[in-house]
Amino acid sequence: MTGLPTQYTSMPESVPAGVAHYIDSGGDTGLTVALNEAAWKRWSLQPRVLQDVSSIDTTVDLLGTRMNSPILVAPMSGLGSVHPGGESECARGASAAGVTFCLTSGSSQDVETVGRAAGPFLQQIYLWPDRELIRPFLERVAAAGAIGLLLTVDSPPQAAFYGFRSRVTGLGPVRSPHFPDGDPPPGSPADLTFADIGWLREASGLPVLVKGVLHPDDASTAVEAGAAGVVVSNHGGRQMDGGLTTAEALPEIAAAVGGRAPVLVDGGLRSGEDVVRALALGADAVLIGRPVAWALGHGGASAVTALLTGLQQAMLAQLALCGVDSVRDVPRDLVRWRQWS
Ligand code: FNR
Repeated sequence: MTGLPTQYTSMPESVPAGVAHYIDSGGDTGLTVALNEAAWKRWSLQPRVLQDVSSIDTTVDLLGTRMNSPILVAPMSGLGSVHPGGESECARGASAAGVTFCLTSGSSQDVETVGRAAGPFLQQIYLWPDRELIRPFLERVAAAGAIGLLLTVDSPPQAAFYGFRSRVTGLGPVRSPHFPDGDPPPGSPADLTFADIGWLREASGLPVLVKGVLHPDDASTAVEAGAAGVVVSNHGGRQMDGGLTTAEALPEIAAAVGGRAPVLVDGGLRSGEDVVRALALGADAVLIGRPVAWALGHGGASAVTALLTGLQQAMLAQLALCGVDSVRDVPRDLVRWRQWS
């Protein structure tokens, strides 16, 4: 069940089946992929009426940048196999919709090319066991116009086996022109800790959002360790299977962070209603993953623009229905947990 424009609810048949499988699948049984989507629907909207919604403000301030929309594109590897225009095609489509793009470290195109297409963007980072190896890339990221980094922390090396099913078919080994020898880091080093947040901030000179947080204490500690914000995420169910859904995790994390830093969320968001649910539960912004890849497969940049424009219009309609005039001021009591399933 989604609220997306119907043509963008799955990958078209023109995209090779193995690539579609790579995009769609998750870790192990795929349970978390399914539950991520379902969990948002467990939150019912309780609208307010007789509110003046003649003007609705959709802008957010994130990392010192004013954004037109609380919707961002999640970092995804594999886009170069979905469309020949790859990441820059996707970034161009997002930019035309006024949406900020996040670039994967496993990009099929170099950061300079994508940066030119994207406008201000966020760069996702994995670190190698030898942290110093990332430094030259960080300089390029800053020069290419990144406004911040997303440090992904939910992918220890052992997960390469656990997430095996999502990788066994579809894409060959990822070679990325991002890096001199073509090999992006395959995931986080096993000894990644909170201390790496400050290290990365110092090394890059850029604000660092920590992506892949599901526990309120981790969110709080990350902020104390210098994170500019957290992304509540289970990697779209592609790493741990059977973990908490992001719709369940978000409220406690928002409470723990308590406005000290922005809280973003992703995983299974598929409609304007879902975006409003996330904002009511304490998110400052949301990231959309697979639907953007599906749109890219259907029609390149213009389809990505159509998808993201449609999603923003649906969000706007929902805000009006709920009597809310700003995405920065969505009240917590707008949502209630359903008592039935
Ligand atoms: C991802 N995701 C991801 N995350 C990350 O930090 N680095 C990466 O390289 C990738 N690569 C990737 C590839 C593909 C094909 C998918 C679908 C996802 C996870 C992504 O950023 C995000 O957390 C989820 O995709 C959000 O869930 P939905 O919207 O896809 O359900």
